[in-house]
Amino acid sequence: RPPLRVALAGIGVVGGGVVRLLETNRDLIARRAGRPIEIVAVSARDRHKDRGIDLSPYRWEDDMGALVAADDVDVVVEMVGGADGPALTLARQTLAAGKALVTANKAMLAHHGLSLAQLAEEKDTPLKYEAAVAGGIPVIKAIREGASANAIARVYGILNGTCNYILTLMEREGASFADALTAAQAEGYAEADPSFDVDGIDAAHKLSILAALCFGTKLDIDTVATTGIRNLIAADIREAEALGHRVRLIGMAERDASGLYQKVQPCLVPADHPLAYVPGALNAVVAEGNFVGRLFFEGAGAGAGPTASAIVADIIDIARDEYGPAFAMPVEALDQAPAADAGAR
Ligand code: NDP
Ligand code: HSE
Repeated sequence: RPPLRVALAGIGVVGGGVVRLLETNRDLIARRAGRPIEIVAVSARDRHKDRGIDLSPYRWEDDMGALVAADDVDVVVEMVGGADGPALTLARQTLAAGKALVTANKAMLAHHGLSLAQLAEEKDTPLKYEAAVAGGIPVIKAIREGASANAIARVYGILNGTCNYILTLMEREGASFADALTAAQAEGYAEADPSFDVDGIDAAHKLSILAALCFGTKLDIDTVATTGIRNLIAADIREAEALGHRVRLIGMAERDASGLYQKVQPCLVPADHPLAYVPGALNAVVAEGNFVGRLFFEGAGAGAGPTASAIVADIIDIARDEYGPAFAMPVEALDQAPAADAGAR
């Protein structure tokens, strides 16, 4: 089969990882995909920035829209970030042109995922977003495909690598919150605006995407009750330990007869619970299916390599023509679940 031709928008932490992965594993990926996967064009803000990778083999476009317009591009990979602005414009242009879109952008999906999924359906083109939830853990594929026969009543877990990294450094090394955040940023885990991480917003974005997928409900970011870890101090961590617990930022969503309940907050997790053993920038997702039982997924939730792994897996699926509705069923078939009263639980 002819090569699948890919354009990369955003060559930062994640985009750089995708270039390295596609180059390093080129032959293996071609055999798995059944055809070569070729980067043909790239775009970012500053063409002169030293990114530590050789981009000279690829066409540089200053205007991201040119990636969509180009005849030699089959797939656009959006790794720019931001719920609106250039990322959203690019995503809409890509799908409207009937081209495949791969995105790592959970903020954009949380706010515009339904309209993008609808556009993808109308154009019968793939919208793939494995990297947007839990980094390198293939949890979207696992729930969308592996657990698709199950009714899922509850999904929860550690959904933000930066916060888990901060909490682990505070716990194990007695680091201050500020120093731990600086270290997380240096590792490339944090969002461009780290308040999205530490205020729980990023975890809320991911939770709303997971909830839609697990429950077959319309994505509803506005009803996620969200508290972050910004105000935690070392004494909180020590007191939790003295009580036999660890502090973890947990996102939890449930659906029952009264509606949809979505919440992100720091929780005291018993020290012998599996979630208490998830260190550093790892994430963990637990989903409870009515036939499969409890599923527990753990792995790297942030960083260049793991995120690139998820993005390239999506590209390989596209190369194999393996895709379906973004949220496992057509947007029209998703329920509009009323928001449940969080205080009642
Ligand atoms: P970076 O800030 O490292 O990279 C962003 C890239 O987008 C840069 O190359 C930047 O260009 C480019 N860019 C930003 N704004 C514009 C613009 N207005 N026009 C053109 N290009 C622009 O972010 P990350 O790589 O960390 O994250 C990218 C996306 O992936 C985000 O949606 C993020 O939420 C998501 N993500 C990140 C993960 C991580 O671990 N970092 C994990 C999972 C998802 P330039 O380099 O020239 O400044
Ligand atoms: N900032 C995010 C995190 C990146 O720390 O989890 C991965 O989505």
